[in-house]
Amino acid sequence: MALLELTGVHAFYGSIKALKGVTLRVEEGECVTLIGSNGAGKSTTLRSISGLTPPRQGSIRYRGLEIGKTPPQDIVRLGIAHAPEGRHCFQRMTVAENLELGAYVRRDAGVEDDLEKVFALFPRLKEREQQKAGTMSGGEQQMLAIGRALMASPRLLLLDEPSMGIAPILVEQIYETIAEINRQGTTILLVEQNANFALDVSARGYVLETGTVVLTDDSDALRESPDVQRAYLGT
Ligand SMILES: Nc1ncnc2c1ncn2[C@@H]1O[C@H](COP(=O)(O)OP(=O)(O)O)[C@@H](O)[C@H]1O
Ligand SMILES: [Mg+2]
Repeated sequence: MALLELTGVHAFYGSIKALKGVTLRVEEGECVTLIGSNGAGKSTTLRSISGLTPPRQGSIRYRGLEIGKTPPQDIVRLGIAHAPEGRHCFQRMTVAENLELGAYVRRDAGVEDDLEKVFALFPRLKEREQQKAGTMSGGEQQMLAIGRALMASPRLLLLDEPSMGIAPILVEQIYETIAEINRQGTTILLVEQNANFALDVSARGYVLETGTVVLTDDSDALRESPDVQRAYLGT
């Protein structure tokens, strides 16, 4: 059984059809990339999984359970955490307060340990524990958004364009940490418009165009594909 399986997912914003039958699967332990240009439906795919834009048609199964009609807070409880596009940190709250919010659905005793794990993954967040999120750089806020998602102790982590608008040096650091999070056992579904780093950390990927999957292959094969190179690798 796949950890996550989308079959023929259709999703809408009012009458605008954003997803036109997305089918994909993610196995436990994998890091999988979803590549696509602006407007392809990448964010909507992640939003459909986390319950923010539920599918109007099609199925989303998580550990065999249909979650297409499950509300977002229950989806977090099931073990799916989403670091959204544009980061959305609470600007006037400190780093520590933002991280605490990530753990709001939890009742177990592991929160303190997970906080230490997040600080070990992102030492810069530890250094800035009492700093207001709004005063940090884009890259640091991206670290905070990922750290906050990890505070839910997810089995599946959804990452939406972690490299967007971030200085190249920090992108590299963030991607090293994404690889480490995956090595430590968290399954990852990663969305990117700029596919270079994403294909490095993932073993497999899907290419999304106008709301539907047009290509899927191993990351190495995608990297070699002339279409992928032209559209998503800037070569
Ligand atoms: N809040 C919204 N209201 C109306 N249309 C939206 C909204 N968000 C996204 N869309 C539309 O849905 C489609 C897919 O968008 P999105 O999933 O954000 O693409 P991507 O993340 O790949 O750039 C686009 O045509 C976009 O204009
Ligand atoms: Mg997007």
